[in-house]
Amino acid sequence: MDRPTAGDKATLICPSYVDGTDTDYYTLFGLEAIMERLDGGIRYDLGRDFLGSARLNLQHYLWKDTLNYDIHPSIPVAHDHLRIADVGTGTGIFLLGLCRRLPPSTSFQGLDVSADQFPNAEWTPANVSFRKVDAMQDPPADLQGKFDIVHLRLFTCVVENDDPLPILSHCLSLLKPGGYLQWDEYDSGTTGVIGSTPGAPTQLLNSMLQAMGSNRPLSFPDNSWIPRLDDLFRAQGMQSVQKISTRPPPELLKAYTEMLLVAHLEHASLHDADGASVGGDRLRKLIGQGAEEMKKGGAFNHMLQVVVGRKPCVFSEGSGEKSS
Ligand SMILES: C[S@@+](CC[C@H](N)C(=O)[O-])C[C@H]1O[C@@H](n2cnc3c(N)ncnc32)[C@H](O)[C@@H]1O
Repeated sequence: MDRPTAGDKATLICPSYVDGTDTDYYTLFGLEAIMERLDGGIRYDLGRDFLGSARLNLQHYLWKDTLNYDIHPSIPVAHDHLRIADVGTGTGIFLLGLCRRLPPSTSFQGLDVSADQFPNAEWTPANVSFRKVDAMQDPPADLQGKFDIVHLRLFTCVVENDDPLPILSHCLSLLKPGGYLQWDEYDSGTTGVIGSTPGAPTQLLNSMLQAMGSNRPLSFPDNSWIPRLDDLFRAQGMQSVQKISTRPPPELLKAYTEMLLVAHLEHASLHDADGASVGGDRLRKLIGQGAEEMKKGGAFNHMLQVVVGRKPCVFSEGSGEKSS
């Protein structure tokens, strides 16, 4: 499915409990106005203010607590002078945690198309730096082939047209021959809503998922690439590819759900910023109703997917494995 345009009405039906009538999602939340704005600039559907940053930081710690690692244990880090890049780094929280446990000779570079969420440079360790770089383009020449490890996480809202290849190619270009790529996403194929008891209400959270999750109408209408990401790594010639799926433990599901409700609130603020506050208000009402369900035991239930692969020592992009 192509990226929707302002004239492309959704087929998604929003639940009638919001205003008593079934209506399409675009009209209900005033998304046409937002899409027009986004068409005029670099698209990003989440907030970059302190609320968005706090959510990213909370999400990082939930992921870390669930996975029990930041860099997957199959990737060797016991070397001096490693160079590590985090693509789409956001607040840089991934690198800020990593730099405390790896040797001071390691250098860390956070890259993002926006500097809005970068940490304060004066309080950032000397071996950590941040830079504005667009992952949809070729990396700047001075970064190409320079990194032992490239990490990226949560690019669902960045990938266009269900095609992560431009970003995958960007990451491969950053890597040294023999370097490792780790790409972390929520596995859209296994996303669902569950209740803590058989009677716990889940209808509204389910409706939110339908509208905002696997079929996000705003800018990421199709996420079918996520479960295929390991195959895409192989098709690009990467070696030692593995896909690891991890389900958060039940005791963390409420915290995950609260964090994801904040992401929906960020969407609502985008509507306000676009002068579509009626849509924002409706979305906030839906979020409030979802939060009430959560108090009664409803929760989002996402698998965390980590894909790891190694760039061959002799590499020719897209032409399969050459040699190790
Ligand atoms: C959902 S956030 C994830 C942030 C971080 N990876 C984390 O897990 O905390 C997505 C990030 O991708 C960045 N981004 C969006 N479009 C981008 C692009 N074209 N190139 C590089 N980064 C981009 C956003 O600015 C944002 O920081």
